[in-house]
Amino acid sequence: MKFNVNVKQGVEVKVIYEDTITCEVLSKLVSTKLFEAKLGQMYIHLLEDGNLVVYLGLGKEKELSLKDLRVTFYNFAKKLIDSNIQEIAMDIPKINGLCSYKTALNIAEGMLCSEYTYDIFKTQKKVSQELVVNYNVNPEKYQKVVEGIKEAKCIVNGMFLTRNLVNQPANVIYPESLAKIVQEEFKHSNVNVQIYGLEEIKELNMHAFLNVARASSKEPKLIVIEYLNDSSSTEKIGLIGKGVTYDSGGLAIKPAASMVTMYDDMGGSATVIGAIKALANANVKCNVVGVVAACENMISGDAYRNGDIIESMSGKTIEIINTDAEGRLTLADAIYYATSHLECTKVIDIATLTGACVSALGEQVSGIVTNNQDFYHQLEEASVKAQEYLHLFPNLPYYENMNKSEVADIKNSGGKYGGAITAGLFVGSFLAKDVPWLHIDIAGTAYISTPYDCNVKGATGSMVKTLYYLMKN
Ligand code: BES
Ligand code: MN
Ligand code: ZN
Repeated sequence: MKFNVNVKQGVEVKVIYEDTITCEVLSKLVSTKLFEAKLGQMYIHLLEDGNLVVYLGLGKEKELSLKDLRVTFYNFAKKLIDSNIQEIAMDIPKINGLCSYKTALNIAEGMLCSEYTYDIFKTQKKVSQELVVNYNVNPEKYQKVVEGIKEAKCIVNGMFLTRNLVNQPANVIYPESLAKIVQEEFKHSNVNVQIYGLEEIKELNMHAFLNVARASSKEPKLIVIEYLNDSSSTEKIGLIGKGVTYDSGGLAIKPAASMVTMYDDMGGSATVIGAIKALANANVKCNVVGVVAACENMISGDAYRNGDIIESMSGKTIEIINTDAEGRLTLADAIYYATSHLECTKVIDIATLTGACVSALGEQVSGIVTNNQDFYHQLEEASVKAQEYLHLFPNLPYYENMNKSEVADIKNSGGKYGGAITAGLFVGSFLAKDVPWLHIDIAGTAYISTPYDCNVKGATGSMVKTLYYLMKN
């Protein structure tokens, strides 16, 4: 998709509000119910001179939100392509108090999202013409609109990267290939990527991580992605992404049906990678460091077992109740590493961590656990801007107690109650320093069975935007 600002060319698109339909042609359309300017309604009109005009309904002006705009233009772009319209000229008026920057950003974001297809492994790809969007505004808004479109492109590129990483299966995305992709993605940028292999991970004493990785013939990789672009700030935010490139459950093996999509279990790491990609592309002023302990949770004669007591980088011992609660083990070492070796002043871990979170919140809301209300409120504010949904779980000693082990310092499953919270608190208990911490469980939101908003089935790139806006502030 290509955007031009103030190039007057292509099929004319008129956005119309339901409450201000005036001209004669339109009244006729309304009376015949062909076009009532309901939100998202589209009508293609053939003029006597042979030209086309496309009407796009935006519903009632006062009720129109930025999210409505984004989703409406997402669907609109798809319909234009289906209708074989290849170039449009849209007059975007000032919309009920919304600034032209946000309007342009949301319209562009929605339209760009319509381009996502996961067809990497299809030998016959569906080809469609590239849509050219000529976005017309008053000259004094030109700059804002250009910037809004540019930011939308950066964000959507980051989200698409995340989606492609999550959607691709585990025979393609495994620790080493993931590490290579990250190096490749950030090659020509001011993002510094460090990859550590088995020997270095052993050197670091990342025993919890190593135990999860143990049964796989694929070498684990510790991926560190540093984007330091604000020398005026002493803040450095650690973004720790779960990078289990395949989760078979280990010896506590998953049933076949729930194993099929477990290539999505590196969704947290893909979110971190996509968010840093977006930040770097947009040259956002911030300091972040992404940490990914990438491995596979597999089965072999040398697999870790239920009942094992293992060590961790922090020195704390862990009783393994369930080898399928592996994500928190990899995150434990990664978060300890981020707070002991990388001087992070705040940390966020993001992970497809628990089925319990999916049961509690479904596929559209990510679950949060935190040790710091202010930090949570910042995340919440960013999520509102991003139009993504969060739910803060309670953090009481009650839940922390569930993780207590009789034989080790902690156990890797807190039992059947409050599973999303105990999993989060397990990770948080491995902070090397008492820094503000957020845990984001995206087990439900990273990969979906039912499309909504601007998402198709499969990987969403959910939380890339929220992290982006959080870092931007
Ligand atoms: N990767 C899964 C969580 C998951 C479930 C992600 C559904 C995406 C969709 C995680 O490693 C896991 O297996 N968790 C167990 C924990 C339990 C054994 C304590 C779970 O949620 O069942
Ligand atoms: Mn698991
Ligand atoms: Zn997992």
